[in-house]
Amino acid sequence: SVVYPPRIMAKSKSIYSCTECGATSPKWQGQCPGCAEWNTLVESVAEKATGHRYESLAPVARLRNLSEIEASETERIPTGIAEFDRALGGGLVPGGVVLIGGDPGIGKSTLLQQALSLLSSACKVLYVSGEESGEQIALRARRLGLDSHALQLMAEINLERILATLQGEKPQVAVIDSIQTLWSDQLSSAPGSVAQVRECAAQLTRLAKQTGITVILVGHVTKEGALAGPRVLEHIVDTVLYFEGDTHSSFRLVRAFKNRFGAVNELGVFAMTDKGLKGVNNPSALFLSQHGQDVAGSCVMVTQEGTRPLLVEIQALVDSAHGNPRRLTVGLEAQRLAMLLAVLHRHAGIVCFDQDVFVNAVGGVKITEPAADLAVLLSITSSLKNKALPSKLVVFGEVGLAGEIRPAPRGQERLKEAAKLGFTRAVIPEANRPKQPIAGMEVIAVKRVEEAVARIREIE
Ligand code: TYD
Ligand code: MG
Repeated sequence: SVVYPPRIMAKSKSIYSCTECGATSPKWQGQCPGCAEWNTLVESVAEKATGHRYESLAPVARLRNLSEIEASETERIPTGIAEFDRALGGGLVPGGVVLIGGDPGIGKSTLLQQALSLLSSACKVLYVSGEESGEQIALRARRLGLDSHALQLMAEINLERILATLQGEKPQVAVIDSIQTLWSDQLSSAPGSVAQVRECAAQLTRLAKQTGITVILVGHVTKEGALAGPRVLEHIVDTVLYFEGDTHSSFRLVRAFKNRFGAVNELGVFAMTDKGLKGVNNPSALFLSQHGQDVAGSCVMVTQEGTRPLLVEIQALVDSAHGNPRRLTVGLEAQRLAMLLAVLHRHAGIVCFDQDVFVNAVGGVKITEPAADLAVLLSITSSLKNKALPSKLVVFGEVGLAGEIRPAPRGQERLKEAAKLGFTRAVIPEANRPKQPIAGMEVIAVKRVEEAVARIREIE
């Protein structure tokens, strides 16, 4: 029976504040009284103005030189799941708040239950579930063959009770599954609304900082908007990880989007098996589809995800359009495709006006880096001409609006990884040309789009 002090005593009033301009209103309104935007008012807890005006205060903060402050490398709590630790930048940090987002059913609860079970042998952990009952979680633990006798569970959705328990029990690591199911007494909005999600995350973050408890929040990403997406939390938490992957394939990627304690874009790669998520140590060849022979419209690129290069096959299908030509991408940016088609037309004279163009990154991987440009262009030209690109070819490079090919970071590493996997030719930006030749790899360095297209034609 611990009472969590701050706000549980009296119900404070809520106000409505605009997410665009910050204006407040005592009632909800459809239109913001400040900036006249529609549907931007969200409920939040009214803070009473307290204390003194600053003019009457003596300076309170003792100022220090940065050099006086002892900064030791943050200690880490490794979860024991190597790929998860990699995405986290080496492990959990005491007092750190991690948000794990992803589509429903992608494996968030599975991964966290596995991680907590491993952690529970060494430290005190608590799993707070607002979605599944204790029985369901116990059943999953049994199916996964986890040793969970030290894993403590709490089925609860009331924020104040969760805070009180965390403060009383002081676990080292707590998982909240999920943030969208929590609700605070202080707000009248429904669980999952922007106001509730933000308030609950802010309170949990405050507690984490005060007590040093590591808090892991699970957040669902939904497109319908019924539940507030975890995007509103990104600035509150220390680390944001997102699950990616095609729910139809067994591979799952956990990518760091923001990390105050490590590198971003670091990637953990898992396979979903009947015994839960298993790390994939050597994932570089995972996203190549296994063709018996070379096919038109397929181009392999090397993408650099965090500290590790991955080979990903880009597939394009160009087909004559009926009516409005469609441009569709899966795993790549749609806007960028439109831009690349314009560059292809203007600088290489290749026209797709009357064609549908579909581009796909194999295996459900999402590629955000512009180094994919050249591979997208070459897969499109290959599909358009219905002619396979030369075999054992890899490609990377960013394409500019002027038709120039710009370098990609860490070109050497990309080339070495491709050579290791048996690729023998690479079309790359001139600026990435390796100083020393790479054994078994013929490097074709190009400066412009038209040059790349012409050089490919020569090899054919
Ligand atoms: P879950 O972790 O419950 O997803 P989330 O918490 O992100 O909503 O994962 C659910 C999916 O994973 C479900 O469709 C079944 C599959 N799964 C396996 O294939 N193997 C397993 O061992 C487990 C536990 C789940
Ligand atoms: Mg779940």
